[in-house]
Amino acid sequence: MAKQIRLNAFEMTSAMLNSHGLWKHPDNVRTRRYKDLDYYTELAQLLERGKFDAVFFADVIGIYDVYKASRDPAIREGVQVPLNDPAFAIPIMAQATKHLSFALTVSTTYDHPYAHARRMSTLDHLTKGRLAWNVVTSYLPSAARNFGHDEMMKHDDRYELADEFLEVAYKLWEASWEDGAIVNDVRRNLFADPSKVHEINHVGKFFRVPGPHLSEPSPQRTPVIYQAGSSPKGRDFAAKHAECLFVGGPTPEATRSSIQDIKNRAERYGRDPEEIKAFTFLNVVVAETEEEAELKFAEYSRLWSGEAAKAQYGGSSGYDLSRYTDLDAIFEYKHTEHGQSRAASLTKDAPKKLTVREVLGSFDRLSRKFAIVGDPRQVADGIQSYFEATGVDGFNLAHFVTPGSLVDFVELVVPELQRRGIYKTDYEEGTFREKLFGPGKRYLPDHHPGAKVRTFPV
Ligand SMILES: Cc1cc2nc3c(=O)[nH]c(=O)nc-3n(C[C@H](O)[C@H](O)[C@H](O)COP(=O)(O)O)c2cc1C
Repeated sequence: MAKQIRLNAFEMTSAMLNSHGLWKHPDNVRTRRYKDLDYYTELAQLLERGKFDAVFFADVIGIYDVYKASRDPAIREGVQVPLNDPAFAIPIMAQATKHLSFALTVSTTYDHPYAHARRMSTLDHLTKGRLAWNVVTSYLPSAARNFGHDEMMKHDDRYELADEFLEVAYKLWEASWEDGAIVNDVRRNLFADPSKVHEINHVGKFFRVPGPHLSEPSPQRTPVIYQAGSSPKGRDFAAKHAECLFVGGPTPEATRSSIQDIKNRAERYGRDPEEIKAFTFLNVVVAETEEEAELKFAEYSRLWSGEAAKAQYGGSSGYDLSRYTDLDAIFEYKHTEHGQSRAASLTKDAPKKLTVREVLGSFDRLSRKFAIVGDPRQVADGIQSYFEATGVDGFNLAHFVTPGSLVDFVELVVPELQRRGIYKTDYEEGTFREKLFGPGKRYLPDHHPGAKVRTFPV
């Protein structure tokens, strides 16, 4: 069988994610309904109809206020704010579906592993093992301030803290409650066997957690680990921990070599590269005919907001584009403590040196390189050739109009991909990890660092 494309739908519990300015589109239901229970039920059912592997909830815990040194552009343009807590949408969506999985973004910089591990176990129980955790270290200084810090922790230090955060969480999930700990024996008056519930006694640089874990083992114990760091530190972290990683690059070859680089690093951690699935961004504008698709793209371009795009870039990269006034100057790299790959992509990682004019222009327009536009066959051609050229396992599908763009994808593109034999016509049984890696693989594989903390067999 040909290699099958994996699909996540990129979501956020806010009016808008990265479709800057598109909240104004009259068909953008999410603008008004992102707070409604029914919106999430309907979305989940749509994605399961389209055989999506997972819905991926992005999350930030601050406001983008680097651009123009102000929070106003982000608030005015609805850039990932207002923003609700995505964790609460998951049980609602799980109840409405049987197979769709859920990747939840949680920051290791502004949470605590003891509380976090219980929340994730709870969600893994409620979804019957359909949970993933997108590990992020957070790039917004406003988050740091609201958690009582004058400054953001430095970029590389955040990864060091994240590494210990995961170690604590792994110990709670993998090395605290043995499988047979719940006895539920009325005759012996024994609900759970204390000898099978273990302290973890973690003492590290950032955390002291004696344990035991509060929850009993959930179907996967550790949720599937997603990660999207792409700086050298981020790649190393992904190589050690990620089961699903996000990669990108200016060309398919660059994306392919990023995947290979992370897989090589993973081997140095003693991991099997086959344990890692790589995803990249995808955005599609599809209609019955090419002309209709072009009309849609033109409409989205008219609504696009450069201000919103610059506000999002400011927070994620640390570059305030309002300060770049010499349009002919070269847009140079400078070190920031925000997301470093975002900054590098337009500077030292760009295929050529860019002027300030070119950079600002790339935010002001909706670029065609962000989306495959066409009829169902053209779009499927574009997806298939990108899939083959990069060697990715799947895509994180963004959408300009929600749920309209997803409905178009499910109705027009999914059947075409299925006809070509590169997209599933039905789900595998089992937990999310089993669906991704095969029957019987519900737990972390033995070579994963999370499995190495085990003190008893699972
Ligand atoms: C597909 C994708 C989704 C991401 N989702 C989030 C998110 O929800 N929240 C967040 O704080 N960062 C998110 N990021 C940013 C990454 O966590 C990371 O900060 C960024 O890729 C820069 O990596 P670096 O810090 O190693 O340079 C995402 C990145 C990608 C590529």
